[in-house]
Amino acid sequence: MCGIVGYIGSRKIDTVLLKALSRLEYRGYDSAGLATVNQGTLSILKEPGKLTRLVMRVKENPVAGTLGIGHTRWATHGEPSERNAHPHSDCTNTVAIVHNGIIENHDTLKSHLIREGHKFTSDTDTEVLAHLIERFHVIQGCGLEESVRRTIGEIKGSYAFCVVSSREENVFIAARNGSPLVVGLGNGENFVASDAPAIVDFTRNAVFLEDYQMAVVSRDEVKITSNAGERIREKVVRIDWDAKDVSKEGFEHFMLKEIEEQPAVIDRLFRMRFENGGEPKLFDVLRFDVSQLKKVERVVIQACGTSWHAALTGKFFFESLSGIPAEVDVSSEFRYRKLIPQKKELLLSITQSGETIDTLMGLRHAKQSGFKALSICNVLGSTVTRESDAVIYTHAGPEIGVASTKAYTAQLGVLFALSLWWARERGSVNEGTYRRLADEFRELPDKMRKIISAKDRVLEIAEKYFQARDFLFLARGINYPNAHEGALKIKEIAYIHATGHPAGEMKHGPIALIDENMPVVAIMPESSVYEKMVSNIQEVKARSGKLIVVTTEGNTAIERLADDVIYIPETSEFLSPFLSVLPLQYLAYYVATLRGTDVDQPRNLAKSVTVE
Ligand code: F6R
Repeated sequence: MCGIVGYIGSRKIDTVLLKALSRLEYRGYDSAGLATVNQGTLSILKEPGKLTRLVMRVKENPVAGTLGIGHTRWATHGEPSERNAHPHSDCTNTVAIVHNGIIENHDTLKSHLIREGHKFTSDTDTEVLAHLIERFHVIQGCGLEESVRRTIGEIKGSYAFCVVSSREENVFIAARNGSPLVVGLGNGENFVASDAPAIVDFTRNAVFLEDYQMAVVSRDEVKITSNAGERIREKVVRIDWDAKDVSKEGFEHFMLKEIEEQPAVIDRLFRMRFENGGEPKLFDVLRFDVSQLKKVERVVIQACGTSWHAALTGKFFFESLSGIPAEVDVSSEFRYRKLIPQKKELLLSITQSGETIDTLMGLRHAKQSGFKALSICNVLGSTVTRESDAVIYTHAGPEIGVASTKAYTAQLGVLFALSLWWARERGSVNEGTYRRLADEFRELPDKMRKIISAKDRVLEIAEKYFQARDFLFLARGINYPNAHEGALKIKEIAYIHATGHPAGEMKHGPIALIDENMPVVAIMPESSVYEKMVSNIQEVKARSGKLIVVTTEGNTAIERLADDVIYIPETSEFLSPFLSVLPLQYLAYYVATLRGTDVDQPRNLAKSVTVE
């Protein structure tokens, strides 16, 4: 999704804007641009393609000044090109604007503006904002702040934007409705960005703007107001990670770094959610009485993509450990369903970014239908966390690779901790079982490290199969969601068609696909459904499919059946998904690198999906 940055202060303007934009590259984009104001003159530079092109352009056309905005654009209205790249300006080249979101009434507004004599130079919805601000600021002579307020009064849709004017060199304005914006507070300088990674090189003190709020940003002050102009006391939060968390730190890709951060993430979760020097702290935000949570009789879980796969595993945890029935839906379907809430029912939303539009809409839909809402999220202050009644953060640190890895295992970790908390509260596990499972959770990081140290085995397998046209992933029981996850990872970063199936479903259709060219990944650690998995892979073998088996150490007997085996350490069946997913992440990673794809920023994908 698009990335926005804004800066006012005494740093070198091109350096700060380009650095901040580079921290937002992970969100996905297809053009980039910046605007600066210097001694009453507005300069705009923009380029289609990667940020490196903009960097070259700035080198050839140096900019100066103390005020500027920048943007990485993920095309929605109009092809990715220089004319459609942001910033957009007005007819007089006085104002420049960068915008995320969609202005729904832009067609009507554009017709009015054209009738008033404005000339448009792009296909974007954003450009209407520049001309509306021009109408109030340049033609009618209002100040920039007032002009932005009036402009907001005219538009429908979602937006986060930053505006500069060559007539007001001491200030820029940011506004939000529906798309995130964070204000970074510095000393004699201030920042705005669509996401915290863009500011942590410079400051860790931040204010997350709420919908219908504006920030009037000068060097020494940030004034937050409602759209109507009432002053709002800002809530300053400290971002608990720093610039090294958003750097590759010697790894070739963020994805690889994030796969290998998983032991540390699970270790941190153990200490926070199970140990914490006494009574573990589970909820980071709880806006209702915990007794209501203890009495929950049904959980409805909604999420998208990888978070949905975590939700599917969560259902197993809740039903088998906590004794609470659970249902799971993808948010893009859930949000349009007729909900029939029962008493003592809880909505659980799972989202890494906290900004996924379908998940947010699903949350709003459920709240309107009377649900209490708990969310599991990775991003502090994100919209989903603000609109939920309770929040548990995954504390995985910033996830930069578009393909989710460490956020997934962190979601599993929180789901496991929550289900054990419920199980203990409701007496569905005894203290001995609780302790045994908590101890096994504590051992996960070392077991993950063991898988990481054996990653070359996965590389060898990737070398055998990276030219395959399709992959099938099979599993049963609590590992079945990982079949979906393994397939999604291969699809999104290696661009190979792949599907995940419950192994028992094979004979109902997918088995027709099996031939000697089809690699089939069977995820079958030691478990209550292991023997059933063996029967299913016999069926694959009988049809000459190529079998890659992920199983528990010591299970050498499987080598008679499998073409390739990846071993993972032994753990409880409940915890096996935490380990079995690592080889799948590596497999996708190595297959993708062998095929030469852009692992961290796969084509057509964005890190947080804020458009419907
Ligand atoms: C896949 C992936 C996506 C996200 C999905 C939901 O690797 O990253 O499928 O899981 O877009 O995003 P969040 O969790 O931010 O709501």
